[in-house]
Amino acid sequence: MALHQQPPLFNPSVPFNTPIQGGLQDGMSITVCGRVWPNADALEVNLQYGSDVILHFNPRYEGGSGFVVHNTNQKGVWGEEEREYKTPVPRGQAFALQILVTQESYKINVNGKPFSEYKHRMPFSWVDHIYVFGKVELNLVAFQYLA
Ligand code: GAL
Repeated sequence: MALHQQPPLFNPSVPFNTPIQGGLQDGMSITVCGRVWPNADALEVNLQYGSDVILHFNPRYEGGSGFVVHNTNQKGVWGEEEREYKTPVPRGQAFALQILVTQESYKINVNGKPFSEYKHRMPFSWVDHIYVFGKVELNLVAFQYLA
């Protein structure tokens, strides 16, 4: 059976916004590779359903030590933040972020290492686009599917 696969995007401009054809499925993963500018104050990678943000992955660099905020915004209202007080995506350095969709959660890896897990608050099947914003250059956004 032929499986439609969304082609990778090379060196897309930022802000970056692209539809996810067919939505997300269990076992699918999205890889975002790039480099955060040395003067960045934050980066956001959002999996969205219209203007709702189903997964907000938000490394912040303000102050001395960086941290990453995970959250969901439904109908304009942010939920409770889940924070990791680590800087997996340092400024000025190349990174590879992988978001794996599982039945229970998004499993987030950075540079091949497990970083965080975010339990679903809204159905992953609703995700219709990915949005990336911030002082970041993107080299690749790619989609992997289970055959
Ligand atoms: C807010 C911020 C949003 C988003 C949200 C996550 O303070 O303005 O951009 O990051 O936190 O909880």
